[in-house]
Amino acid sequence: MAETKILFVADLCGRAGRQAASYMIKTLKERFSADYVICNVENAAGGFGITPEMSKKVFSYGVDIQTSGNHIWDRQDIIKYINVEPRLLRPANFPDGTPGNGYYIDSFDNTKIGVINLMGRIYMKDLDCPFRLAEKIVEKIKHETNLIFIDFHAEATSEKQALCYHLDGLVTAVIGTHTHVQTADEKISKRGTAYITDAGMTGAYDSIIGMQTKPSVERFLSGMPIRFSPASEDVKISGVVVTADSNTGEATDIERYKFDFDINSLTGSNENSEE
Ligand code: FE2
Repeated sequence: MAETKILFVADLCGRAGRQAASYMIKTLKERFSADYVICNVENAAGGFGITPEMSKKVFSYGVDIQTSGNHIWDRQDIIKYINVEPRLLRPANFPDGTPGNGYYIDSFDNTKIGVINLMGRIYMKDLDCPFRLAEKIVEKIKHETNLIFIDFHAEATSEKQALCYHLDGLVTAVIGTHTHVQTADEKISKRGTAYITDAGMTGAYDSIIGMQTKPSVERFLSGMPIRFSPASEDVKISGVVVTADSNTGEATDIERYKFDFDINSLTGSNENSEE
């Protein structure tokens, strides 16, 4: 059985997340013998969106495809870039005519993989139905490959679990992102779909979902729109590794990981911008 290992790197948050990614993705790829790397980048720029320059750098760290979510449009200059860089995905269920792509079929080592990015609708924007759209996209991709990976960027656990059951056995993986808190419910479903409610976050963990604690708490106390920035202490990289049959697309294993990263030991990082 030809086997594919997919390394998924959870939501990069701010400079700390980008620095961890810049130093650790290649190491993790080797450690897990991963064939393909997917990274969610929607919080890379100061917690809000990603810039074209940052996206290019993230590709240079060994990432094959980048996924996103509700913050994808936070940086105006990403619109031009996303129209010419099909490997930076935005959620597929934005309305027709939205810039960019919601899925992409890529190739590596004579294997094809389809990566789909979708966004949930509970406590989030009222986009097109991710369930029905996923069916249609999966049907299209199936003409080319059975290896199909979904980043489902959603808030509600129920919605994430429901998508996994809806697509059970049709796709290789339904991996939840957005909450930044890694869950311990990874599983392979009865029909061979790898699932986790949330893969976690790559960024500073002495934080409130990656952001500085004081302004975040202040915002809850005052109800005012206080500006906050990404935190920088206790940096970790987290995510999952999915193993699958390259031909059938059936997942055989999912392993979650979370590793410390000593940001203070860095020298010469090219991820020194303030954001
Ligand atoms: Fe998000």
